[in-house]
Amino acid sequence: MEIDVFTLFPEWFDWFERQRHVRNAIEAGSRLRYISYRDHTPLTAGQVDDTPFGGGAGMVLRVDVVDAALRGHYGRDPVEVRSGRRLIALTPGGRLLDDALAQELAAEPALTLLCGRYEGFDERVVEHLATDAVSVGRYVLSGGELAAMVVCDAVLRKLPGALGDAESAVEESFSPALGGAPEYPHYTRPAEYRGWRVPDVLLSGHHERIREWRAEQSRRRALAGRFGGRQGPG
Ligand code: ADE
Repeated sequence: MEIDVFTLFPEWFDWFERQRHVRNAIEAGSRLRYISYRDHTPLTAGQVDDTPFGGGAGMVLRVDVVDAALRGHYGRDPVEVRSGRRLIALTPGGRLLDDALAQELAAEPALTLLCGRYEGFDERVVEHLATDAVSVGRYVLSGGELAAMVVCDAVLRKLPGALGDAESAVEESFSPALGGAPEYPHYTRPAEYRGWRVPDVLLSGHHERIREWRAEQSRRRALAGRFGGRQGPG
């Protein structure tokens, strides 16, 4: 998997790249690159954004700047680039990232993530340069960088070799293995702490009953989530 992140703040990703699962993914053959819009801007004094037409607060990332950065990096018209790879604009109003989308993106050989800044992008970036608009939640971050890390994290951990042997992305929350439901609760030692006991079934060694209990917990959590209920103890 090759991921190119276009950003105003490439240095934000230094921390991200140091994380174990990201390093594992890189050692297993994935490649992450960070491209600064500012290094490609055709405007003077490193300008990348401008005030919105029609008035209003904040600044908007310019379409000519995004176009120039994509063109500079890929060496051809981004409109052509987008027919060969997913170019994803990160924006709060986009398609919500969920397990199915993470899985879909993990199956791609290459991704491009476009981080917006301030009030976001000129809409022509989304309309003409990007193939997708993706949101990590219905709230506004001060830029797309954290959203890009969320997308990278969710996608990279789906790739073989990203997680250690002891971990698995197969039977985790929202995965097809759990029918899209949240994962069942986990417990570890001590079996009793301050009077809070681990459910007896988990200590029983009875694998079939444990499997049934977990499936039931997962279903209950899915139901609680759907109706906005508190996920109380099983
Ligand atoms: N940029 C700002 N807020 C965002 C969000 N919630 N999702 C994706 N990109 C964003």
